[in-house]
Amino acid sequence: MNYNLENKTIIVTGANSGIGKAAVIQLASLGATVIMACRSMERGQKALEEVRGLSKSENVVFIQLDMSSLASIRKFAEEFKTKHNRLDVLIHNAANFDHSLKKTSLTEDNIEKIFATNHVGIVLLTQLLLDLLKQSAPSRIITVASKGLTLFPSLDIEFDNLNGERKFSTEHAYYHSKLSQVMFTYDLAEQLKNTGVTVNCVRVTNVAIPDERLTHLPVWQRSLYKLKRKMSITPERQAETYVYLATAPEVEKISGGYWDENNKQVNSSKNSYNKATWHKLREVTEKMAGIK
Ligand SMILES: NC(=O)c1ccc[n+]([C@@H]2O[C@H](COP(=O)([O-])OP(=O)(O)OC[C@H]3O[C@@H](n4cnc5c(N)ncnc54)[C@H](OP(=O)(O)O)[C@@H]3O)[C@@H](O)[C@H]2O)c1
Repeated sequence: MNYNLENKTIIVTGANSGIGKAAVIQLASLGATVIMACRSMERGQKALEEVRGLSKSENVVFIQLDMSSLASIRKFAEEFKTKHNRLDVLIHNAANFDHSLKKTSLTEDNIEKIFATNHVGIVLLTQLLLDLLKQSAPSRIITVASKGLTLFPSLDIEFDNLNGERKFSTEHAYYHSKLSQVMFTYDLAEQLKNTGVTVNCVRVTNVAIPDERLTHLPVWQRSLYKLKRKMSITPERQAETYVYLATAPEVEKISGGYWDENNKQVNSSKNSYNKATWHKLREVTEKMAGIK
């Protein structure tokens, strides 16, 4: 992949580690202006310096963004729009899969933390940046789900448990939020037909998570992650799919696709194609996000 991205502006959320950071390095190396949207000032600034050095690009900036806070998302969108007049690619990479959560935990907006970060926040951020994406068309939105969803083929949206009111585990809330992202992708792709804005979802496979991201976990969970790492690909390798979907001319007009780490389209679960569920999910999510 060797495209010249010199006039492209790209946002990557959760860009201070793992796949997000690897994608920023690759995109900045190709000449894009990249906005690293990270929740921690300290981790964001540290990653920014590292990325600038490795990509040999000064066109990388950091703007603080906490995807679990509706106010932070609104502030980020405002700040971004005052500093940039175009947006070519929006990559929704950030996600919460915090195994230390033992019970339902609500955000300042009274939304369950994992659903807030991995789904509701993404819907709001997309909505706030949609005008700019349309003005900058052809432009692209990239969402992120998980190959782990294939282990739960009958999972469906639990409208009576969106906030973990009936049951909660990190794993369940995480896969529920990722299924929501798959449906959001399909639904938004239909809504954006003929606008020049495409939406595609990456089915991220097993990707190595470095030790420093696991320090909050008990020893047995860290050991499991280490074992899993033996069967994982690197963040850099998975980031190539982000870069492919963000840049490749042959996907410019493809929308509503679900893509594996080999840049091939794959199917998602039967439930994920239910349009009535997409529409109901859109309605309740927009309400939770305060979208009029
Ligand atoms: N690794 C895998 O095996 C795997 C498998 C399937 C899907 N995925 C998906 O791939 C994507 C990237 O994951 P990764 O493997 O690169 O993990 P990672 O290294 O842990 O990266 C996750 C990023 O999301 C950020 N984040 C979490 N909560 C946030 C919030 N409230 N606001 C803003 N940023 C937030 C984290 O920032 P902090 O440093 O502040 O925590 C971090 O930068 C995620 O969508 C994940 O669900 C990963």
